[in-house]
Amino acid sequence: MGTGDRPAAAAGTLRLGDFTVNRLGFGAMRVAGPDIWGEPRDRGAMRKLLRRAFELGHDFFDTADSYGPDVSEILIAEALHPYPAGLVVGTKGGLVRPSRHRWDESGHPDHLRRALDGSLKRLRLERIDLYQFHAPDPRVPYAESLGALAELQRAGKIRHLGVSNVSVKQLEQARRIAPIVSVQNEHNVENRESDDVLAACERLGIAFVPWFPLGAGRALRSAKVRRVAARLGATPAQAALAWLLARSPVILPIPGTGSMSHLEENAAAAALKLSTEDLAELNRA
Ligand SMILES: NC(=O)c1ccc[n+]([C@@H]2O[C@H](COP(=O)([O-])OP(=O)(O)OC[C@H]3O[C@@H](n4cnc5c(N)ncnc54)[C@H](OP(=O)(O)O)[C@@H]3O)[C@@H](O)[C@H]2O)c1
Repeated sequence: MGTGDRPAAAAGTLRLGDFTVNRLGFGAMRVAGPDIWGEPRDRGAMRKLLRRAFELGHDFFDTADSYGPDVSEILIAEALHPYPAGLVVGTKGGLVRPSRHRWDESGHPDHLRRALDGSLKRLRLERIDLYQFHAPDPRVPYAESLGALAELQRAGKIRHLGVSNVSVKQLEQARRIAPIVSVQNEHNVENRESDDVLAACERLGIAFVPWFPLGAGRALRSAKVRRVAARLGATPAQAALAWLLARSPVILPIPGTGSMSHLEENAAAAALKLSTEDLAELNRA
């Protein structure tokens, strides 16, 4: 199959530990219900969306035990298990959802051990391709949380480890404990707070996975994004994703959607080329 059949492949590839994936992944958070809480309105439609995402060339899926909770991981397994060759599923642990609007850090080793076992069961795997520590827990020393995950990796339950919502200092701390293959932080045309973390990933040659690549929709309303998109005959979502792809070869965006038409539109962004003028305009703060 050429990239015409799998448009996301036009983004090129990137190394994620010993995996090679297309540089435009899929964020599977929005297959859960509204507010990422409970079941989606139509489970069948979400399974179809997940299968279509892989067909379009998104061969890195990002999920977490807290999406639903559980719902996103269960739907991924229902839609795609036994997983096709080449699909890399990254999940995360370290946040809990006591209620609809709460996302509480939970980085205690006992919790992480239980969380990983839950993800293995829901994803129907014996080993997670990429397990990301979702966010540092201010009540638990970071080294203690990472140490527990490193132990689980040595036990064979995790292939690669990633971190999320970290500073450069926390990334360095994590790397002293275990090999880290990716960092997942918020980053988009409207939010560059993690520029220093992105630069660290470039130096280290590890993947930087921007969450909220569309600013959860906000980047699509930005005047400069709309101007560049109009110039290119593209949509604002495509311009925002093309900017991320052009920004750095270590960037692996994971746009999220529960809509089939948005999914197709986002995959097509992989082929969009920005001119120097477009890039300069989007780079301006
Ligand atoms: N590590 C972390 O702490 C963290 C935090 C948040 C998210 N994440 C990860 O990052 C992924 C992406 O984040 P996200 O889904 O929250 O934000 P996003 O990708 O920036 O934006 C998604 C939002 O934009 C809309 N959208 C998507 N494509 C569109 C298009 N072509 N045109 C118009 N609207 C469009 C979606 O609505 P529709 O459903 O209607 O398309 C949704 O409301 C998540 O799936 C998750 O895997 C990680």
